[in-house]
Amino acid sequence: MKRMLTRLTPLVLAAALLAWPWAAGAAAPGVGECQDCHGDKTIEKSLPGGGTLSLFVDEKAYRGSVHGKGGCTTCHADAKAPHGKLEKVSCGKCHPDAEKSYSGSTHGKGHAKGIQDVAWCADCHGKHDIRKSKDPAARTFHLTIAGVCLKCHKDRAIEDKYHLPGQEVMEAYESSVHGMALKKSGLMGTAVCPDCHGNHAILPGDQPRSATHRQNLPTLCGKCHSGILEKYEKSVHGKGMRGGIADSPVCTDCHGEHRITKITDPTSSVYSKNIPKTCASARCHENAGIASKYAIPKKRFSTYMDSFHGIALEYGMTKAANCASCHGFHDILPAADPDSTVNKANIPKTCGKCHPNAGPNFAKGAIHVEVTPQKAMGVFAVRAFYTIFISSLVVLFVLHVGLELHGRRRRKRMEEGKKE
Ligand code: HEC
Ligand code: HEC
Ligand code: HEC
Ligand code: HEC
Ligand code: HEC
Ligand code: HEC
Ligand code: HEC
Ligand code: HEC
Ligand code: HEC
Ligand code: HEC
Repeated sequence: MKRMLTRLTPLVLAAALLAWPWAAGAAAPGVGECQDCHGDKTIEKSLPGGGTLSLFVDEKAYRGSVHGKGGCTTCHADAKAPHGKLEKVSCGKCHPDAEKSYSGSTHGKGHAKGIQDVAWCADCHGKHDIRKSKDPAARTFHLTIAGVCLKCHKDRAIEDKYHLPGQEVMEAYESSVHGMALKKSGLMGTAVCPDCHGNHAILPGDQPRSATHRQNLPTLCGKCHSGILEKYEKSVHGKGMRGGIADSPVCTDCHGEHRITKITDPTSSVYSKNIPKTCASARCHENAGIASKYAIPKKRFSTYMDSFHGIALEYGMTKAANCASCHGFHDILPAADPDSTVNKANIPKTCGKCHPNAGPNFAKGAIHVEVTPQKAMGVFAVRAFYTIFISSLVVLFVLHVGLELHGRRRRKRMEEGKKE
């Protein structure tokens, strides 16, 4: 009798569990009738392409999931034991908004074409263990989701097949300031893949509707870096960009996207020593086409590199002025603007940050001196004089040494001739 009771208790419990979803008002059949078979850890089926698919469903995980109160037919609407071939699950019938934005995305369009490699609902959310994204146990939890994206986006075979950015780029994210804040500090506020790319409506950056399209980037980064966005919007670059000038830099032109590091990191594109190269990159201030198109003075990089500051920076003196020390960075304005740091009136203050006794005299000399007879006759003449003078000296010196050697050899030969 006692033995029978102990045998019965689990049965009663199971029955209670089975009755529970119905008690909650769901008309769906329970879980138990399915778990008679699918609760068996060894149940599997062979796949046409070889290999097997486990048909085991972990009931505990399922119960803890967001759909766990309902029966299996919540999603497998046509399942009724015993069953034959079942329809594919449609999440969209209950989540039409998610389905709609997903279907317009790169992943969604691929899925509609039957491409197996793209992400579908269950690839990001799971099937039987779906949880609300706020739940730290969810796959879509803020600190977990990057791993889900990277499962495919660090896969060499997928990258090659779909011409996606290389593995190095994805590894760069992991060691970027945002990736480190995620991995090392578990910082909820840091940027993970869907913060920049979105979750359902993901599109490549060259499409205007994409979250990562140039035109949307300042606002995107500004979601978190709002103080910087405010400055940028008022700057010559921000106004230009908003005015439709596609050549005007957005955040990622100066900072990169996946590789963004702390500004104090020597590999950062905006580390003091790298700033001149970043401002002068082939697309910007050393590009003659850009300079004439927008009537900006030319050769900013070469003139800077010829200056005291440029030479000092090149030799490792990171305290020397770089472009940003004089022009600012997010708040750059044209020199003619009275608020510009390089407006004549403000130069003593700007130089004074590093040259404490900078007075009005500092505003007198030109900073970007292009050394041509038209632009700076004085400097040009001095430079030309020294170039000729030093070259002549070198030639004379070589000639002198050559003649001297020749003479010595001749003298030696003559002496030897005398001896014989
Ligand atoms: C008598 C055992 C049994 C019961 C009860 C049972 N299944 Fe199955 N189920 C199977 C077998 C066997 C397969 C593999 C069929 C195959 O080879 O395609 C399967 C496959 C499936 C699949 C995968 C279908 C596919 O094509 O990949 C789903 C989904 C499924 N079952 C859901 C359910 C649901 C929901 C219930 C409860 C309403 C249920 N099953 C009850 C034995 C069972
Ligand atoms: C939130 C929706 C949802 C619910 C609820 C659900 N499933 Fe599934 N199930 C899926 C999805 C999605 C798949 C992937 C195959 C597909 O697209 O049809 C799947 C696949 C399966 C498979 C095939 C093996 C696998 O893992 O791919 C089995 C077996 C299965 N489900 C059984 C069950 C059982 C038993 C229950 C109830 C305990 C259940 N499912 C409840 C969404 C669901
Ligand atoms: C029969 C309708 C139905 C189907 C089919 C269905 N869901 Fe749900 N889903 C719901 C309901 C209802 C909730 C809300 C549960 C709650 O709030 O407790 C929910 C909640 C969710 C949540 C959490 C939402 C939040 O607020 O954070 C996610 C994520 C989710 N479902 C994804 C899916 C995915 C993925 C599929 C397909 C594999 C799917 N659902 C299939 C009805 C459905
Ligand atoms: C590429 C990954 C990915 C795919 C594919 C995907 N989702 Fe999501 N989904 C997410 C992420 C990430 C979030 C949570 C964003 C957040 O933190 O609020 C989310 C949120 C949700 C939510 C909760 C709504 C909300 O705003 O909190 C539902 C419901 C949902 N998804 C359903 C679906 C359905 C249905 C599909 C398929 C049509 C799908 N998802 C496809 C990644 C994905
Ligand atoms: C199951 C694998 C898989 C997962 C998970 C996945 N992706 Fe993808 N993704 C792909 C494939 C494959 C493509 C290429 C599809 C194509 O070009 O047709 C793609 C395309 C993209 C593209 C567009 C690239 C382009 O040039 O068209 C972006 C952006 C993207 N994924 C971001 C993400 C993000 C962010 C996540 C996570 C929230 C994610 N993906 C999760 C497989 C995946
Ligand atoms: C700080 C924002 C940010 C984060 C975080 C981020 N990306 Fe990107 N991603 C971008 C930008 C910006 C582009 C370039 C868009 C362009 O100019 O075409 C890009 C490009 C891509 C592309 C190439 C397709 C395209 O749009 O050109 C893929 C794929 C991609 N990212 C995947 C990921 C994945 C996976 C993660 C997470 C591991 C991630 N990204 C994290 C901003 C980000
Ligand atoms: C014209 C190039 C340029 C553009 C455009 C630009 N930045 Fe910067 N940013 C810089 C430079 C240079 C620095 C480093 C200045 C320094 O050494 O203090 C910097 C510094 C930063 C910092 C670190 C701030 C600090 O002082 O700790 C953040 C965060 C940042 N930028 C975000 C952004 C965002 C977001 C945008 C777009 C709204 C943006 N940047 C646009 C050049 C730029
Ligand atoms: C979801 C919020 C979020 C988004 C979106 C975001 N960032 Fe960040 N970013 C952060 C946080 C948080 C940190 C600080 C991490 C730390 O200090 O460990 C950070 C750090 C930085 C830094 C380093 C600052 C330093 O102190 O050196 C730069 C530069 C930066 N972000 C640029 C960008 C750019 C450019 C974009 C857009 C492409 C962007 N961020 C998008 C949250 C975000
Ligand atoms: C020591 C301070 C200083 C440094 C360093 C500096 N500049 Fe300048 N820059 C100025 C001053 C002052 C002006 C305005 C007068 C002039 O053209 O000489 C100016 C003018 C300009 C202008 C024209 C602005 C206008 O409104 O006409 C551009 C563009 C420019 N600089 C870019 C750069 C770039 C790029 C770098 C770095 C490679 C750089 N500058 C480094 C001080 C500096
Ligand atoms: C970020 C700090 C910084 C700013 C801002 C700056 N300088 Fe300098 N400057 C230096 C340093 C450091 C040196 C020393 C380099 C060397 O010894 O070769 C230097 C050297 C010079 C020299 C060479 C003669 C000397 O005193 O060694 C001149 C001239 C000069 N700066 C002018 C200016 C003018 C004009 C401005 C403003 C338009 C300016 N600097 C802004 C840091 C700065």
